[in-house]
Parts: sequence; structure tokens; C-alpha cells
Amino acid sequence: AFQIKLSSNGRVIDVAHDESAASALVAAGIDLPTSCEQGVCGTCLTRVLAGEPEHRDCYLTDEERAANDQFLPCCSRSRSPVLVLDL
Ligand code: FES
Repeated sequence: AFQIKLSSNGRVIDVAHDESAASALVAAGIDLPTSCEQGVCGTCLTRVLAGEPEHRDCYLTDEERAANDQFLPCCSRSRSPVLVLDL
């Protein structure tokens, strides 16, 4: 499990081990568009401001993944306890 922090208002959202970051965001009332929910389409692409994502998508290039400044919350998770997102 990890936490997501919204940069716009500092709100912290828990992501349980059995739910995706995207579903935790949507459950918290965040308007996050999703489509494939499998890390393929890129619809849910979200900017990461701090923390280290654990990329599980097949949309980003290796280079983009290594930059750790964006991730696909429908399938990817976090290596750090908190991910700060540009939301
Ligand atoms: Fe398709 Fe996340 S919804 S990559």
C-alpha cells in the first residue's frame, strides 16, 4: 500500500494493495479519465511531482519510465511511500 498526495490541495489518499491508484483516486472523487485500465492506452497519464512510481504499464518508453515524472495510475504503483501527483 502507498499514499497519493494531490499537489493542488495537499489531500492524501490511501491506495490499498488490492486496488489501483486510479480507482482510489476516482473513489476519492477525483475526475481522472480512464479507458483501457491495463496500461496500454495512455488515457490516465498523470504527472508525478515527487516520489518514485513503480511502472507496470506498456505505454511509456523506457526513457519516459526512467524519468519518473509521469505514470499510468490504472496499473502502476509506487516504490516510495508517497507519490505526489499534479492533480
Ligand atoms: Fe489506459 Fe491507464 S487507462 S493506460
